[in-house]
Amino acid sequence: MAAAAVFFSSSALRPGLAPLRRWRALSLLAPWVDYSASSSPRSASSDEATIFSGTKLAKQVLKEVQSDVESWISFGNKRPHLTVVLVGDNPASHIYVRNKIKAAAAVGISSEVILRPKDISQEELLDMMVKLNKDSTVSGILVQLPLPDHIDERTVCNAITLEKDVDGFHIMNIGRLCLDQPSIIPATASAVWEIIKRTGIQTFGKNVVVAGRSKNVGMPISMLLHTDGEHERPGGDATVTITHRYTPKEQLKIHTQLADIVIVAAGIPKLITGDMVKEGAAVIDVGINYIHNTLSGKTELVGDVDFEEVKKKAGFITPVPGGVGPMTVAMLLKNTLIIAKKLIY
Ligand code: GUN
Repeated sequence: MAAAAVFFSSSALRPGLAPLRRWRALSLLAPWVDYSASSSPRSASSDEATIFSGTKLAKQVLKEVQSDVESWISFGNKRPHLTVVLVGDNPASHIYVRNKIKAAAAVGISSEVILRPKDISQEELLDMMVKLNKDSTVSGILVQLPLPDHIDERTVCNAITLEKDVDGFHIMNIGRLCLDQPSIIPATASAVWEIIKRTGIQTFGKNVVVAGRSKNVGMPISMLLHTDGEHERPGGDATVTITHRYTPKEQLKIHTQLADIVIVAAGIPKLITGDMVKEGAAVIDVGINYIHNTLSGKTELVGDVDFEEVKKKAGFITPVPGGVGPMTVAMLLKNTLIIAKKLIY
């Protein structure tokens, strides 16, 4: 937050700075701007975007969580404990869960993974939730999604007691989020919000495009950004346009070209290209796509943004990997601590 304050005071002294230049002013101050992530070393005259390092900002958030966990325990409270339920053998889900468990251990949150085969019945899963809800050693519960097709995810998310819902996917948490009331905010949306706020990106009165309307990602991000900054749970006061799979590409381009902030969570590699972005805009890539590189023969993780082209036009950009992903894990652990401390419910 301090960096953001310095950023604004410096730009206020130089009101004529174009957006691109202002991002650069921020980049000189913010330790989570990763020059090494750029394919070419940035010179002062370079016209490329500031590349945000989610890895660095996540480290800072995790340090804050670790310090809060230690202080919580030093007052005689129980160590927060996260239980993760992982169904089936989706390789990506296994990687995500491993990352969450590793990060939990690093901040002093104990955890366990309950593995179940993909043919587990919904009834068995719901019975497990009943037991975990009652288990006083468990402070937070996370059921890794997606679940196999024969299981209704909404029913399972609602079966986790509100008091242990670290994902913020329970219908009450979603409802409270939509009413601008304090709630557990889904980690990915929380990560995007935190990136925007901690880097000092202005949202008040700005145009934002959120490409993707999923209930767990696009929708909560849109909620946070369009809502009133003076409500119980303050929002971003932005004008938010939500686009989706049926938005014609030429319409999407019209919207993104007007946007000060483009947030992409569509699951489509290279959905956003250089010509779609306004000069100096902030581009936040939430995409997670595993693609097969025919040249290297390897599987690669890519986002939804044509990074190499968009960074020439944008003022600020988050890479994939190393952008929103690590911040999402950090915000999940922050949620786990909020739940353990009963700060909301
Ligand atoms: N699968 C992908 N992202 C998430 C997440 O944030 N929470 C859960 N439970 N499953 C996921």
